[in-house]
Amino acid sequence: MKFIKRLLAAFFLFVVIAARADEGMWLPLFLQQLNEKQMRSMGMKITAADIYNINKGSLKDAIVSFGGFCTGEVISDKGLVLTNHHCGFDAVQNHSTLDHNYIRDGFWARNKAEEIPNPGLFVTFIVRIEEVTKAALAGVSPSMTEQERQSLIDKNIAGLRTTVKKEIYQDLFVRSFFEGNQYFLFVTETYKDVRLVGAPPSSIGNFGKDTDNWMWPRHTGDFSMFRIYAGKDNKPADYSIENVPYTPKRSLSISLDGMKEGDFTMVFGFPGRTTQYLHSTAVEQIVKVNDPAKIAIRDKALSVIDGFMRRDEQVKIQYAAKYAGISNAWKKWQGEVLGLTSTNAVEKKKLYEAAFQKKVDANPQLKEQYGALLADLDAAYQELNKYGLARDYFNETLGRIEAFTIGARLNNLAMAKEKNGDKGYREAVPKTAIALGEIYKEYSPEVDKKLFEVLMEKFTRDQPAEFLAPELVTLAKNSDYNFASIADEFYNNADLLNNPSKVLASLEANPDTVLAANKQSKTNQLYIQLNNYYYNTVTKKLNSIQARINQLQRTYMKAQMEVMKEKKFYPDANSTLRVTYGNVKGYQPRDAVKYDFYTYLDGVMDKYKPGDYEFDVPQKLRDLYKNKDFGPYGKNGKMPVCFIAMNHTTGGNSGSPALDAYGNLVGLNFDRVWEGTMSDINYDPSICRNIMVDIRYVLFIIDKYASAGHLVQEMKLVHPGKK
Ligand code: ARG
Ligand code: GLU
Repeated sequence: MKFIKRLLAAFFLFVVIAARADEGMWLPLFLQQLNEKQMRSMGMKITAADIYNINKGSLKDAIVSFGGFCTGEVISDKGLVLTNHHCGFDAVQNHSTLDHNYIRDGFWARNKAEEIPNPGLFVTFIVRIEEVTKAALAGVSPSMTEQERQSLIDKNIAGLRTTVKKEIYQDLFVRSFFEGNQYFLFVTETYKDVRLVGAPPSSIGNFGKDTDNWMWPRHTGDFSMFRIYAGKDNKPADYSIENVPYTPKRSLSISLDGMKEGDFTMVFGFPGRTTQYLHSTAVEQIVKVNDPAKIAIRDKALSVIDGFMRRDEQVKIQYAAKYAGISNAWKKWQGEVLGLTSTNAVEKKKLYEAAFQKKVDANPQLKEQYGALLADLDAAYQELNKYGLARDYFNETLGRIEAFTIGARLNNLAMAKEKNGDKGYREAVPKTAIALGEIYKEYSPEVDKKLFEVLMEKFTRDQPAEFLAPELVTLAKNSDYNFASIADEFYNNADLLNNPSKVLASLEANPDTVLAANKQSKTNQLYIQLNNYYYNTVTKKLNSIQARINQLQRTYMKAQMEVMKEKKFYPDANSTLRVTYGNVKGYQPRDAVKYDFYTYLDGVMDKYKPGDYEFDVPQKLRDLYKNKDFGPYGKNGKMPVCFIAMNHTTGGNSGSPALDAYGNLVGLNFDRVWEGTMSDINYDPSICRNIMVDIRYVLFIIDKYASAGHLVQEMKLVHPGKK
């Protein structure tokens, strides 16, 4: 019996370690060494050098970081860039007015003169990547504190900046990988004149909205289009009317063939943040403590905002983007808890840790070095637990209450005045005015007051006394925990700070009035008290435990790479360029339920609810559907919309190209499936899928729906299947 159990455990572990052909976000410069063979065995027809090559044009030259928060790709020789609708949304929103509502109606430039500049928006190309671990870690010794270590590394990196060869129009940055065990340098080119070319109406680009978000089957045409402009020399240049469309080193060809089950795909982009190498105790805390707490606080916040949005059209417009943002992570965390639970992620981590410990213990030298590592990590995370929870309460509560944010802005302004006098104040005003203007545009004192009432009550009732500022306790006790009455008192209408236009006017005319009002403001006084108390009771402690954890996790990472020789390691996402690959495949989320891997326009029509905020379908799209007028983009009388595959992606991969076996563009990544959002912590090939919009749907919308076929003319369309 024992033998069978052991055999099973060994087999299980083997499955855990070996079966994950699809897991990983790989560094492009190591593809040849680590991945090419496997990629080819999975169906790839090109070489690693076709993907990343610093000596001649390669696919990487068509990939950009879009604004630092999404990914985009160049799809024409005239600098046309494709990304998601939700990535370009800010630009679309900024150019929208009541008369020209591009969010509702879409926007398409009929010629280059109509393409709209977007101050502040940029795209960044990666010119080359170099490992610089030795230089970055020069002089670092194990006896250093985390702080000493970091400041030496910062100094080393500053030194690198002056010695590394690059053109004057290029930049460079250095990032830490594998928890600080390796360092890589990126030489980049950033273009700052990026103009909006087109976007579908949000009834296509964000079809299904929050209800369908993080879900499969999906029917969203989540794309928008921009163009990079450069100086006459094709080099980066600030916006100018004289600028010309950028001629890229490489643009992607577009395949019209579509994908079949099992086809090879890869996603090339800038994934933001993952934590794949956490200790099981940390994962357990995420599942049992942190995610549930954050979800519960957001439950409250969302229901407050939703209540007002339903009653008030004005609030609905003001809070739509905020609501979507709050609900995006809220929904993802729920999927994460579900997925980590259903795949026994904690148990799997423990099994893996046991195998690690066994190997370490079997070797006296390793045992000496790493024998206590797992126990130390466990202890450190146990110690972190309550402070981590206090941090989540603090961030999720204070971050939702806008009166606090407004107070904080004005406090900073007051500080600038204190430090640098009137001059300091004058310098700081424009930035503050812009920031406050942005906040007030999406602010209703009534909603904020209710959020204050509900969230501060939860904050006070849920938390242990040690994390409650004495002033808050007094306040609660004095009102008999009646937070509605506290809110009434705090948000009284006479308060200047609740009057946006007065605040903004007074910032210019008589600053002392606003600053004095802010000093008197009860919400701001409470905010300062909560902040100070948090800093002294939580931040300090959190920082010191976290420094210890960082050091332990770094050692654990190094140890795993030394000890678990059969495992291939990839670094956690850190907003740097990565390649992930996997086959097109459906999945089985639960017993007796199996999901197919493609959706069609028929599914859009199935979901169609006339006049609905999430599921309305524009008349023209309904007509095209009725007439089966799909142009060259449909297949067998049907119009493909979205598909899923096993690519390991995360936030930041939005807008990333999905490429076929030949490196042709076949889709645009924009989401993951609900059951698999835990792939940030523990990828599981059975339920982790990324969601892409089919490139043929994108072209169909541009050409047939928006009648912007001139843009398709710029692109290179291919049929790799007919080779
Ligand atoms: N879940 C996707 C991503 O994290 C899409 C978010 C935008 N769409 C939405 N309906 N909120 O970011
Ligand atoms: N929608 C996400 C983004 O904005 C991508 C989905 C994911 O997290 O995988 O980057």
